[in-house]
Order: sequence, then structure tokens, then C-alpha cells
Amino acid sequence: MTPRASSGVGDLIARKQVVICAGSGGVGKTTVSAAIAAGAAAQGKKAVVLTIDPAKRLANSLGLPELGNDERRVEMDADGELWAMMLDAKRTFDDLVDTYSPDEQTRREVLDNPIYRQLSNAVAGSQEYMAMEKLHELHQEGNYDLLVLDTPPTRNALDFLDAPRRLARFIDSRSLSFFRASSKMSLGVMGRGTSLLFSVMKKATGVDLLKDVAEFFNTFGDMTDGFRERAERVDALICDSRTTFLLVTSPRAAAIEEARHFHRKLQSEGLPFGGVIVNRMREPVRAKPAPGLEAELAEMLDEKLAGKVARNLSEHRRLAERDALNVERLRERLGRKPILTVPELSGDVHDLAGLAELNTHLFASGALRR
Ligand SMILES: Nc1ncnc2c1ncn2[C@@H]1O[C@H](COP(=O)(O)OP(=O)(O)OP(=O)(O)O)[C@@H](O)[C@H]1O
Ligand SMILES: [Mg+2]
Repeated sequence: MTPRASSGVGDLIARKQVVICAGSGGVGKTTVSAAIAAGAAAQGKKAVVLTIDPAKRLANSLGLPELGNDERRVEMDADGELWAMMLDAKRTFDDLVDTYSPDEQTRREVLDNPIYRQLSNAVAGSQEYMAMEKLHELHQEGNYDLLVLDTPPTRNALDFLDAPRRLARFIDSRSLSFFRASSKMSLGVMGRGTSLLFSVMKKATGVDLLKDVAEFFNTFGDMTDGFRERAERVDALICDSRTTFLLVTSPRAAAIEEARHFHRKLQSEGLPFGGVIVNRMREPVRAKPAPGLEAELAEMLDEKLAGKVARNLSEHRRLAERDALNVERLRERLGRKPILTVPELSGDVHDLAGLAELNTHLFASGALRR
């Protein structure tokens, strides 16, 4: 199919106020989110990116040395304005349990504990929810033309979407009363699994988690009503036609599979899906395979090096073909929805210049393919 002339991602966000970049771990969500906001600023918009756990160097160049609850303006030569904010994505409880369990049996016992499962889901959900809540707050204030939300690396990218609902379910469930009541309980009256859980937690965090959690949920319980109402408003915002979800993926098979899964989920939830960005594509090798290449190279390089270069090239060719094939498969699945591809750049993307380079592809004319 012939590429349609367009301004790439510019087309996808043209009439949008909120862009949510989602996808599996490590595919470039944070980088792409920052690039989209920077690109929108370059086009004259006032854009803010809400990043989660950006790599240190990228955070520094966005002027985000530490977490804060406010957006900061990024120095940038543009018609519009770029603002950035870093959201707190604390380590999940699962990571803590992995790190601090003395042995495999303890780890399993803690992870399988029903109370632990409720608690960790709710707390992870509450962090994800807070990101959504901040998005909602900024949208309400109406100071920006475009809000770009980065999403955290969850094991399952769908968790993020479910967070507000999960949290609302949790608040409605009886677990909350358990935690509110548990401030009066001692470890002794709990089952072995539960007391084990809290002693591991205590060791892990250095604080009496049971007490803290009980206090937390006591406070939490007091704001339940307003909370449920806000959860509904956040839900409405993410379903709005002025919001768009962009799926970021790498061209590797597993990531593509997850993107397809995520796409199905967005569809079944009736959420506004904009398109897919396949990041870090290996550039195709244009030259045809030449059987005499190694001998030819050996005339210029030493033999060993010539062999290495030739093998490298054919390996790269193979990987680039595989990337292209994976994207084709995705295209079959997505039908008319756009897929944008961004090549693997030669180095990390950690400053405004890197973001601008990424944008020469992301916002490129003809980047949008059908
Ligand atoms: N097109 C690209 N070319 C080269 N490097 C890239 C490209 N896109 C992203 N990177 C690099 O890949 C790394 C991971 O990117 P990033 O942090 O944006 O991923 P992420 O999806 O946000 O990860 P996580 O799921 O851990 O939050 C970074 O070091 C970034 O600089
Ligand atoms: Mg990230």
C-alpha cells in the first residue's frame, strides 16, 4: 500500500487533548511520550509530559532531578512550550518480596497469601490510579493544549487500565474493613502465612507495615465517597474521544504479541485507540546479498575482520527482515489503524537533541502507513 502523506504522529494527536502511551516493559514508552510532547511544543502547542521513572539522564535533561508534584518548564527553543513532571512509581511489593524472602518456600507462601494479594494489588493500583488522578487534575485545570501520559512498566500492561476500577472494587470489598480493624490486632491472632507475610514486610521496609497499612486504610476509608466519584471521572476522561491511546512496542515477536493483546483489550473496553508505534526497528539492508562480499572485504580488511563484518551484515539483514515480518503480522491484525515505525537510533535517547532526532521519524511526512 502506498504511504499516505501525513505528519506521522502529528495526525494522530491533532485533535486530541490527552495522549496515553502504553505498552510492555522497556519498549520506549517514556522516550516516546517525551518526544511526542516535545514535538507538539515544536508545533506551537503548550504540552506537558507526565513521565514515570525516566532514565536518569533523560530526567536531568528535562530538568527533573527529583520527584515533585508540579510540572516544570523545560528550556527549549520552540514556538510552543514543553513542560514535564515526574510521577512516582514505587517498586512493587512483589519486587520487595522477591528481594527479601529468605527462601523460595517463604516467597511462594507470601505471594500466594490472599491478604497479600489484595493488599499489593490495591497499593500498586493506587499508584497507577494517582497517575490517572494527576492527569485528570491537569486536564480540569485546562492550562495545557496537550497532556501526554507515560505508563509504568507493569508485568501486564493491562493492569494500568484496570487500576481505577480495581481500586474502587477494593474499597467496596470487605478487605478494607479488615485493614481498618487490623490496627487492633496482633500478629499472634493471624494465621501463620499472614504473620509471616508481615514479618517479611517488616524486615523489608524497616517499618511496622501492619500498623502503617492499617493507618493508611483508616485514612483512606474516610475519603471513600469522594474517591469513588473521582474514579468515575477519571474513567470518563480515559474513554473520552479527545483522549487517544498509542501503543508503543518493539518489533520483537513477544512485544508485538502483547501489543495485539492490548489492542484487543482496548477495543473490548471501548477505549479510544489511536495507533501503534513500533520503536527501535532495525533498518533494512538495502544492498542485495553478495556471495563474494567476504572476499571483497578481505582485500580491504584483514581476513578475520572481513569475516566478522560479513557475518554481522547478514545477521543484521536477518533480524531486520524478521522485524519487518512481525510488523506485517501486526498490520494484518490492526486493519485500518495506523502503524508508525521508528528506527533504532545509534545511541540512547537521553536529551532534547535525541528526542528531536526521534521526532524526525515520529513526526515525519509519510510516517503514517496504512
Ligand atoms: N528508537 C530508539 N533508538 C535507540 N534507543 C532507544 C530508542 N527508543 C528508546 N531507546 C532507549 O531505550 C531505553 C528504554 O527506553 P524507555 O525508558 O523509554 O522505555 P520504557 O518503555 O519507558 O521502559 P520501562 O517499561 O522500563 O518504563 C532508553 O535507554 C532509551 O534511551
Ligand atoms: Mg518508562
